[in-house]
Amino acid sequence: MIQELFNLKEKTAIVTGGANGIGKASCEILAAFGAKVVVSDYDLEAATNTSKSINDKGGSSIAVHCDVTKDEELVKLVNKTVEQFGGVHILVNNVGGGGAGRESPYDIEVEQFKKVFEMNVFSMWRLCQLAAPHMKKGGYGSIINMSSMASINKSPAISAYASSKAAINHMTRNLAFDYGPDEIRINAIGPGAVRTQALRKVLTPEIEKRMLAKTPIKRLGEPEDIAGAVLYFAAPISKWTSGQVLFINGGGEQTLD
Ligand SMILES: NC(=O)c1ccc[n+]([C@@H]2O[C@H](COP(=O)([O-])OP(=O)(O)OC[C@H]3O[C@@H](n4cnc5c(N)ncnc54)[C@H](O)[C@@H]3O)[C@@H](O)[C@H]2O)c1
Repeated sequence: MIQELFNLKEKTAIVTGGANGIGKASCEILAAFGAKVVVSDYDLEAATNTSKSINDKGGSSIAVHCDVTKDEELVKLVNKTVEQFGGVHILVNNVGGGGAGRESPYDIEVEQFKKVFEMNVFSMWRLCQLAAPHMKKGGYGSIINMSSMASINKSPAISAYASSKAAINHMTRNLAFDYGPDEIRINAIGPGAVRTQALRKVLTPEIEKRMLAKTPIKRLGEPEDIAGAVLYFAAPISKWTSGQVLFINGGGEQTLD
């Protein structure tokens, strides 16, 4: 049955930052296609709400508190997932932050630059390291790292965020060689401007107008636009796809400057 290529029954997925935005839409689509979903977030109340709404629609999910910048919480997240659902098959490394035109080297300290890499890059690498042995054991693995169009765009005051996202792209391509022999796929998604709470903080009507001038599909992205790619990478349909970075941006480029 060709539909089986999108079937996620018997699969367990961890999504970091799953309470809101792109992470939430990812949790929802993975659950709708049958996965058991661990909605992890450092905002446990919001994660619980997301998990509850999935379960109310007939899905299977739990909420777990996890700040991805704390190693002991990453360890607990994977342990709790295995305890609850018996394994880990899909990991969506979605949390990321920084940028938004606030990273001029005249204004920020090296500590802030380091924090962006800790949140965006080190946490992803570490969660891969913790989850992959369970994927190998379970005979199925797909890791999806949330990058950004900022990883290839060039703009002022965004050097920490942009370079951390570029690091994610190349980390993904290289880890594909480490994990490929165990049939674990690893891919990245580079969203353009997507309407989430993170974007709302910096979006003005003027910026939106400038963004749309360079975008063939004349609207900004919605979280569901990105979640569709998460589903593709998570499901068996992409079983020979690894080490790729897929940009989803309405065909164009949206920068804040
Ligand atoms: N929205 C966009 O336009 C856009 C564009 C390109 C890339 N991205 C990337 O997509 C990802 C998700 O962004 P979004 O716009 O959906 O964000 P969002 O702010 O809507 O949601 C992020 C979620 O992550 C949680 N979170 C933040 N820091 C955390 C931490 N340290 N530990 C655990 N949870 C944490 C928040 O509580 C929130 O629920 C990020 O990696 C971001 O860089 C977003």
